[in-house]
Amino acid sequence: MPSSPITLCGSLSLHAVSLGATLHAAGYRALGLDFAYVPFAIERDELASALDAMRALKIRGFGVSMPFKLDVIPLLDALDPMAARIGAVNTIVNDAGRLVGYNTDAPGSARALGEAMELADRRVLVLGAGGAARAVVHALADRSMHVAIANRTREKASALADDVNRSQPAHPVRAVDALELDAYDALVNCTSQTMAEYGGASPVASEAIPPNLVVMDIVYKPVQTALVKAAEARGARAVHGGRMLLYQAARQFELYTGRTAPLDAMHAALERALT
Ligand code: ATR
Repeated sequence: MPSSPITLCGSLSLHAVSLGATLHAAGYRALGLDFAYVPFAIERDELASALDAMRALKIRGFGVSMPFKLDVIPLLDALDPMAARIGAVNTIVNDAGRLVGYNTDAPGSARALGEAMELADRRVLVLGAGGAARAVVHALADRSMHVAIANRTREKASALADDVNRSQPAHPVRAVDALELDAYDALVNCTSQTMAEYGGASPVASEAIPPNLVVMDIVYKPVQTALVKAAEARGARAVHGGRMLLYQAARQFELYTGRTAPLDAMHAALERALT
């Protein structure tokens, strides 16, 4: 079967976004790989034909964003176990025509938080119970953290906790109401309220943050969210959303290329793109 000397990867989203292309292309350049990355914008009713095209054109990998993270699942040939548990796919790998779905947001979040602290048996409060929180809670419970979830809509926090507990994590996940931050080693914001486009407010006041709390915000626009600034003002260790973005892209890179991701080159490209 004829094959192109260039391996193509890309992304599928409703509006073409270039951040993934920037990160992956920097990785290809650093390792001298004959890969190229193209962000594609498609409509929802074009998803199945886009996956047919992926097979026909032998496109090696696609990153997918909402709503395709859920929509692609019935169209794939197999799911990685973590993606199946989370119920969301952000990465599709084409193995000789067999399309396999992965979730790299999950390991990306655990690696970003794990850079700042030991995870096993430590206590983390996750704010939010939407799509992003699902991947983070599954990942942190999988790393044997004691996970509590607080969400504006309490029932969604309980439903997420119940769902994760079905996979029998080392410590059961709980839904909680109060934000007593002294009771935790880490706080992870997975709500959209710190995003610039949703007002950019911090979910907790700076004075409420104990200096020994590790604070991670998965939001990366702005990089210095109000929560990251509040944590730093208290002398607490803060992890910004760019770290999770970098590590989830690095995992995609490794799935597509089979090579260890050149983190320095990808990180430098991300910094340039975000600032
Ligand atoms: P994503 O896929 O990015 O997680 P989402 O599924 O819309 O997006 O979830 C957004 C999360 O941020 C939810 O947990 C939401 O709380 P609700 O479940 O109560 O809607 C939370 N959120 C958004 N704006 C918020 C705000 N102003 N205050 C508190 N929580 C907020």
